[in-house]
Amino acid sequence: METCRRLTTTTTILSLCLLAVSIIRVECLGVNWGTIAIHRLPPQTVVQMLKDNGIGKVKLFDADRNVLKALAGSGIEVMVAVPNEMLEAMNNYDKAVEWVKKNVTAYHFNGGVDIRYVAIGNEPFLTAYNGTYLKTTFPALQNVQRALNEAGLGDIVKATVPFNADVYDSPVDNPVPSAGRFRSDVIEQMQLIVDFLAENKAPFSVNIYPFLSLYLSANFPMDYAFFDGASPLIDNGTKYTNVFDANFDTLVSALKAIGHEDMPIFVGEVGWPTDGDKNANLAYAIRFYNGLMKKLSTNQGTPRRPGYIEVYLFGLLDEDAKSILPGNFERHWGLFRYDGQPKFPIDLSGKGDNQSLVPAQNVTYQPLTWCMLDPEAKDMSKLDDNVDYACTRADCTALAPGSSCSGLDAHASASYAFNSYYQIQNQNPQSCNFQGLAKITTSNISQANCNFTIQIVYSSSTTVWPSLKITALVLASIILLI
Ligand SMILES: *[C@@H]1O[C@H](CO)[C@@H](O)[C@H](O)[C@H]1NC(C)=O
Ligand SMILES: *[C@@H]1O[C@H](CO)[C@@H](O)[C@H](O)[C@H]1NC(C)=O
Ligand SMILES: *[C@@H]1O[C@H](CO)[C@@H](O)[C@H](O)[C@H]1NC(C)=O
Ligand SMILES: *[C@@H]1O[C@H](CO)[C@@H](O)[C@H](O)[C@H]1NC(C)=O
Ligand SMILES: *[C@@H]1O[C@H](CO)[C@@H](O)[C@H](O)[C@H]1NC(C)=O
Ligand SMILES: *[C@@H]1O[C@H](CO)[C@@H](O)[C@H](O)[C@H]1NC(C)=O
Ligand SMILES: *[C@@H]1O[C@H](CO)[C@@H](O)[C@H](O)[C@H]1NC(C)=O
Repeated sequence: METCRRLTTTTTILSLCLLAVSIIRVECLGVNWGTIAIHRLPPQTVVQMLKDNGIGKVKLFDADRNVLKALAGSGIEVMVAVPNEMLEAMNNYDKAVEWVKKNVTAYHFNGGVDIRYVAIGNEPFLTAYNGTYLKTTFPALQNVQRALNEAGLGDIVKATVPFNADVYDSPVDNPVPSAGRFRSDVIEQMQLIVDFLAENKAPFSVNIYPFLSLYLSANFPMDYAFFDGASPLIDNGTKYTNVFDANFDTLVSALKAIGHEDMPIFVGEVGWPTDGDKNANLAYAIRFYNGLMKKLSTNQGTPRRPGYIEVYLFGLLDEDAKSILPGNFERHWGLFRYDGQPKFPIDLSGKGDNQSLVPAQNVTYQPLTWCMLDPEAKDMSKLDDNVDYACTRADCTALAPGSSCSGLDAHASASYAFNSYYQIQNQNPQSCNFQGLAKITTSNISQANCNFTIQIVYSSSTTVWPSLKITALVLASIILLI
């Protein structure tokens, strides 16, 4: 997996990755590994899955000890993260030193974790945050990079801020990439941050979501979200046939406007969800990824930045506990389902082959029992309340309009909700009651295009480390004594 280099200079990237292309392009590809799921796959299982699929880089949203332990010795390059809630704490240099010591230096040994980046927050300048992290992000970046430098890791590990593409735009009256500028409410901080990144030879990180362009604007031309040709946007003679390129180049222009035209950029998140919206489905995801992979494999880059682009796909697995404030699709970004089963064929090498991803190995499921609305239940007056109860605690996003299970009738929808709750409750029989409205069944009540899932076993989601094993042994012997 030693084919990809960090983005420090464009030339090294180009040569190394062109080399990689002739062998197999996938080595340069990264994925985001988020863990906001109620029942998680064991980290070792996920790491094996990454290896089996030749994924050489992974971006995390924190610095979870069990995840990092599983990544140790894998050769996979890792981005760890300081979550937004910790940015303020990182304004204290001693705390930044402590964070780096525990979460980076501790894994820096032969056979340890190949940490390359520390993400400072996650999209901290998102408009929706109303400036909450505006003042604390830059000092956190400075302190963490300084702590990395003082630990002697500054040349290997770079701190950067994963921004959402909403930190820049072009004016409404001139919506072309060449007119790109940072948002006026963040530009002062962006200048400080980008100057600092340049000083430390760290790259700029941006999340670009063509799906959201489509989702947020009813008039958005559908074809422009994909990569298979759309009537082009002409920017002073330059043609743009997809919003990804146009968005990326808007950033290049915004960087140029603050004196950093050559700043290296990587795409920290890009992907397409498969459920939870009328445009979130398998067919569109396949179309999007086919186009993206083909584009990346040719190293054509964008009009303003020809060449290799470092990319982290979003995401690896579905996360059924993510906030659905942005939309029901939030829980369906995975290339893989919650259980590590691939959702659709995708050729990560970009050759366009109809290839299947390698599924997770040795996944342990709960028994084959489902929870359903009891057809003999009489009093339906409490049905809605009980469905609401289940859905606020479990995941019912597949029932939303435009989603895979939206065609179910009221009774089947109730069964879907009840089952969803029963599964996350580890099939505890008491969780399939719903004031007498529900019953357990051993027949698969899935319907066409709508899976009533069986959850994976919860205990296998947590790693048992030696200290825990000892505790378990002690407990076991205590029980024996009793
Ligand atoms: C899966 O199980 C097989 C057989 O027990 C074992 O050899 C293999 O290492 C396991 N794989 C993972 C990823 O745990
Ligand atoms: C290590 O990182 C995690 C996740 O960001 C955080 O919860 C933990 O407090 C950090 N450890 C230290 C010593 O800062
Ligand atoms: C941002 O402001 C809006 C409107 O004032 C409010 O509804 C929202 O809850 C705020 N969000 C945060 C994260 O503070
Ligand atoms: C358009 O392109 C020409 C030639 O590259 C350049 O000289 C000119 O400044 C550009 N105009 C704008 C508005 O960017
Ligand atoms: C790709 O393969 C799957 C089975 O792995 C098959 O169902 C599908 O029709 C194939 N698609 C194309 C375009 O060949
Ligand atoms: C239940 O049935 C659906 C559709 O027939 C199928 O896709 C799914 O694999 C089945 N689930 C189990 C656990 O057998
Ligand atoms: C349902 O689950 C099965 C595996 O159990 C999978 O093959 C199938 O694609 C799923 N269907 C949908 C619509 O998600």
